[in-house]
Amino acid sequence: MVRKYVFGNPFETDAVIEKMKAEQAWQEPGEISAENGFSFSYIMEETDIVYGLGESNRGLNKRGWRYISDCTDDPNHTEDKNSLYGAHNFIVISGKKPFGIFFDYPSKITFDIGYTRSDLLSVNCENADLYLYVIDGKNAYDIVKQFRRMIGKSYIPPKFGFGFGQSRWGYKTKDDFRKVLKGYRENGIPLDMIYMDIDYMQAYKDFTVHEENFPDFARFVQEMKESDVRLIPIIDAGVKIEKGYDVYEEGAEKGYFCKREDGSDFAAAVWPGYTHFPDVLNKEAREWFGSHYKFLIDQGIEGFWNDMNEPAIFYSREGMEELKSYMLEYANEKEDSSPWELGDKVEGLANSPEDYKRFYHCIDGKMVRHDKVHNLYGFNMTRAAGEAFEKIAPGKRFLMFSRSSYIGMHRYGGIWTGDNKSWWSHLLLNIKMMPSLNMCGFLYSGADLGGFGADATRDLVLRWLAFGVFTPLMRNHSAIGTREQEAYQFENVDDFRGIIETRYRLIPYLYDTYVKAAENNDMYFKPLAFEYPEDTFAAGVEDQLMIGKELMIAPVYTQNAKGRYVYLPEEMMFVKFTKDSCYTTEILEKGHHYVEVALREVPVFIRKGKSIPVVRPARCVEKIDMETAEYIGYKG
Ligand code: GLC
Repeated sequence: MVRKYVFGNPFETDAVIEKMKAEQAWQEPGEISAENGFSFSYIMEETDIVYGLGESNRGLNKRGWRYISDCTDDPNHTEDKNSLYGAHNFIVISGKKPFGIFFDYPSKITFDIGYTRSDLLSVNCENADLYLYVIDGKNAYDIVKQFRRMIGKSYIPPKFGFGFGQSRWGYKTKDDFRKVLKGYRENGIPLDMIYMDIDYMQAYKDFTVHEENFPDFARFVQEMKESDVRLIPIIDAGVKIEKGYDVYEEGAEKGYFCKREDGSDFAAAVWPGYTHFPDVLNKEAREWFGSHYKFLIDQGIEGFWNDMNEPAIFYSREGMEELKSYMLEYANEKEDSSPWELGDKVEGLANSPEDYKRFYHCIDGKMVRHDKVHNLYGFNMTRAAGEAFEKIAPGKRFLMFSRSSYIGMHRYGGIWTGDNKSWWSHLLLNIKMMPSLNMCGFLYSGADLGGFGADATRDLVLRWLAFGVFTPLMRNHSAIGTREQEAYQFENVDDFRGIIETRYRLIPYLYDTYVKAAENNDMYFKPLAFEYPEDTFAAGVEDQLMIGKELMIAPVYTQNAKGRYVYLPEEMMFVKFTKDSCYTTEILEKGHHYVEVALREVPVFIRKGKSIPVVRPARCVEKIDMETAEYIGYKG
């Protein structure tokens, strides 16, 4: 049962697609107040678990921290952070009388889940203009499925999107890409995609290709496809301000960029230097921006990743002016004052809340200040692409994922979890985040495997890939200047081949499970408690996940570990996939076990009475031969 409530004059975010009548009076657990902003508060029982919040920090059980939905380009996802790139305002309180709540509010909103007072859940935002949806049901899983129906079916990628992709910020020339292809093909490691980061563009201009480095780009796209690899270019939110650049000229002329209060186009510096932000919340501007993806599609491109769409701002013209005058003042008059203040001023330039108040969207003829709808930008950039794909090639599936998102975007694309680090703690964060994302509709998701920032180690990359075997988006990506972490960069490449081959052996099962989950508003990754609601021990397990109806996974995420402890809520078959298409099986009884898992192995647990198809590995998804399928599992 879902009930809808309206407070004040909410913005239509388009997160929910199911039409519902609103209730007259609040008849739910918890107190609400619409004076001095909006607040919801609820006293939690000690045993209540709070699920949800999609892409957010910390655990699967969200209790004990304060989370702020405020899409933020912050590459340091340390434990103390409150905001990441997405805003997914759906929570489920799982206790005696479980219920879910979705706060459909497009600006900053705070979820204090037992942080200020351990039994108090309190959700607050500045304006009392929002929709609230309250869902009750049998249990948390049932509530999630009802929520998912309300927000519409999740995006389904093309099948090649389940292949393995290699990425790195810094590939510049055709030869850089050929080198990656060669590294994989010569070592017999499957590969379906190579991602093109910002350097493929001419001066970081969206919908351009570097003229000197990629003469005859279409031919190059074809050359890669002949080797069964698709190139997947990045598209950034900001459009470079440059006379003569068609996207800039058109946008400026038609008034499709976000504007300052005085009607001039707002300028913010990102990778290309000063840019304008396309007003993707305005329908016409969205259509216009989306239509430009055709430039690359016409050259054979079948997938994209949308980036910097919080939107990230390095600095604005106004911010820079303010800093300059502060510095002059500092140099002339403030010699004795603290240098830290100077540092803070410089740091405060990026993604400043002040800047988000400096520009406006034109929505249905009305000017809406950006900060009021901040969390919808990434969603609408990706929607621009999704709506355009439907026009450019109706019915064709494109690969599409975004960095920033709001619920609703899950219908148009997936997400990757942004700039993590080559840290073991981020592998664990990745594991815990996946089911929460699924609850909020984001099924096609994954992290930068091996870690984006900082130097990776061989064992970290192997362990992370072994988890990545199961994430719908399986991509190794790293930042410029960090240690190279392509699979062929390390000793004993065989170990990497074995792990990535395991992905390909499982693709028929994983893709099928994914499509079923998307079609049925179901989850691909689930917490154990969703499958075993009566098992009180399972409720506390956060480092093992269920996949579909058949599997449980328990990845190893600590350095130098020879294996790990695992909890089996029922008897299961423990399977270890290893290189050369081998595997071992062993039946383990319900309860606690220590299982050994070597670096080159991918562990998985098959549930009693279930089996999964496993095929011979192939160099790319299209070459998978279903004739080679065998079934692994047992009747029990
Ligand atoms: C952002 C992205 C990252 C990309 C970089 C350069 O930091 O999150 O994935 O490599 O920009 O484009």
